[in-house]
Amino acid sequence: MRYRFLLLLAMLLSVVARAETAAAGGKALFAACVACHGAAATGNAALQAPALAGQDAAYLERQLRNFRAGVRGGDGAEVSAVQMRGMATAIATDSDVAELAAWMASLPRPALSAAVAGDLREGNNLWQGKCAACHGVTGEGYPALNAPRLTGLDSAYLRRQFLAFREGRRGAHPADRYGRQMAMMAKTIDTGAELDAVLSWLRAQPPGAQ
Ligand code: HEC
Ligand code: HEC
Repeated sequence: MRYRFLLLLAMLLSVVARAETAAAGGKALFAACVACHGAAATGNAALQAPALAGQDAAYLERQLRNFRAGVRGGDGAEVSAVQMRGMATAIATDSDVAELAAWMASLPRPALSAAVAGDLREGNNLWQGKCAACHGVTGEGYPALNAPRLTGLDSAYLRRQFLAFREGRRGAHPADRYGRQMAMMAKTIDTGAELDAVLSWLRAQPPGAQ
């Protein structure tokens, strides 16, 4: 009985240790990313590079794999995505991709400042009716549904990605299983006052809310 307990404990500790080693390796690898995403992975709006800190690790890993395979940032994608694809293909191995994702996920989500103009009440209604089922009631993300956290992200980045999904520049590749789901959802609100309302509501949520 006791032996089994110790065995279980040892197994658990080795899982924790492996996750920690992965995150430490990721920090060193991230040196190649700092110029655009910032030393703490908080993003750089002027370079169109989003915050990565505190995002779900599985989502980050999938995006990097998609960029590497041209599932994101391939034919018909916009310049920013093509640029990121080039960076992703320079990562040496799949295990480096996993280490990078683990490290980025372990960092604190950045706080955002300026608000976005839009009707917060309508934003809340639209969010709860059309987005919350997958992205969570406060935009915290829902890993079981593969839907990323959307709080703590620059509004211009969110708008660009939303439009890319809607207009077939992201999520159109046949191998992009989860991107295709989001591409359908991007047709459920209009890109004028409704999108403004949702973005202003998202901006008003605490970046690291659970
Ligand atoms: C030259 C600038 C640049 C460098 C260097 C760079 N990136 Fe990016 N990255 C971007 C841009 C721009 C985007 C937004 C792409 C888009 O518009 O679809 C992006 C997007 C991403 C995304 C998708 C985020 C999301 O929310 O979907 C991940 C993950 C990512 N980068 C990781 C990395 C990692 C890891 C490195 C280093 C190996 C790196 N990037 C290096 C510019 C850069
Ligand atoms: C059926 C589930 C579902 C619904 C509903 C949904 N999404 Fe998504 N969304 C996803 C998934 C899954 C992804 C990740 C796609 C991928 O892996 O590339 C995503 C990704 C996104 C992204 C890209 C984030 C990034 O970091 O690049 C944005 C922006 C977004 N969703 C906005 C919205 C908005 C706004 C709504 C409501 C109008 C919404 N989503 C409704 C599933 C959903």
